[in-house]
Amino acid sequence: MISLFEMESFIEAAEKDCALYEEKNFVTRMEVLDQLEELLPEANQPDKLPMLKSRAAKLKSELEEIDIRLFQRLRATIRKGGYTRKDFKDLIHEYVDLPAGCTERPEEIGYDNLDVFVNGLSSFQIMPEQSKDLEPEMVFYQKTPARVVFELVEKSHFRKEDVFFDVGSGLGQVAILVNLLTGITTKGVEFEPAFCAYARDCAAELNLSNVTFINVDALKADYSEGTLFFMYTPFKGEILREVLVLLRKESLGRKIKIITYGPCTEQVALESWLKMESPAENNTYKLGVFCSF
Ligand SMILES: C[S@@+](CC[C@H](N)C(=O)[O-])C[C@H]1O[C@@H](n2cnc3c(N)ncnc32)[C@H](O)[C@@H]1O
Repeated sequence: MISLFEMESFIEAAEKDCALYEEKNFVTRMEVLDQLEELLPEANQPDKLPMLKSRAAKLKSELEEIDIRLFQRLRATIRKGGYTRKDFKDLIHEYVDLPAGCTERPEEIGYDNLDVFVNGLSSFQIMPEQSKDLEPEMVFYQKTPARVVFELVEKSHFRKEDVFFDVGSGLGQVAILVNLLTGITTKGVEFEPAFCAYARDCAAELNLSNVTFINVDALKADYSEGTLFFMYTPFKGEILREVLVLLRKESLGRKIKIITYGPCTEQVALESWLKMESPAENNTYKLGVFCSF
């Protein structure tokens, strides 16, 4: 348990740290906010405590206010079309360090500062409740880490005429981020109506006219425009097999790429009409990039 003295010293140092109040120091602010979050419940010691607690709460709300204003301003600039693709990448670099070359990947799913920053850009609503039960073989919502979306953009070698599909698009972050990073048309296919509505609201809030979300079972979606298909294991078994049959039909008319993340990679790798471009090593939480012959 943290002592009263340590708590007071931490709060005092943060209160005096002018850099913390500068918008650009998002990551340092986030670390202090995380520590305050842990500190506040610890504050169950008597004596000076009410005083200390209110200082901690005041500091927390001042720092959060800076981030709220920061993200409101960034969202407004995106809305006005104020960032080119390069500007958008530079913007992210300005606030968060991206892992060098995006090549070092953890062996399992995990989130970092980049996710917190990207969440700030897109989440202005509370996550909706699931309104429909998933069928067996359908996988519940879990977000692709933002650094993996950056890697996906690097590895897919997209062309400006590509149309990207996120199959099982959840709250829409992948389709939105890919559009902001590349400018290409992106679409999300999602079974859950509440997630789809949320994703549409996020795209509308950012005024992204070539990002759309379709509320349909992936087995019934129209993939006729797609050239790049991303799947963060939205389903398994027979559903995955049937969706791959649909994508194979699409590949008869044009070359397509399928990019996978998570356990579905193993099943996609068995498809003889696809050649694996990446990864060389077999790891569930490395992106798989497959190209039709
Ligand atoms: C692991 S999450 C991935 C979410 C999103 N692609 C992302 O990375 O942030 C899987 C998503 O697929 C959706 N899903 C599951 N079965 C589906 C189906 N048959 N058709 C469309 N979406 C489906 C789930 O509702 C969930 O949102």
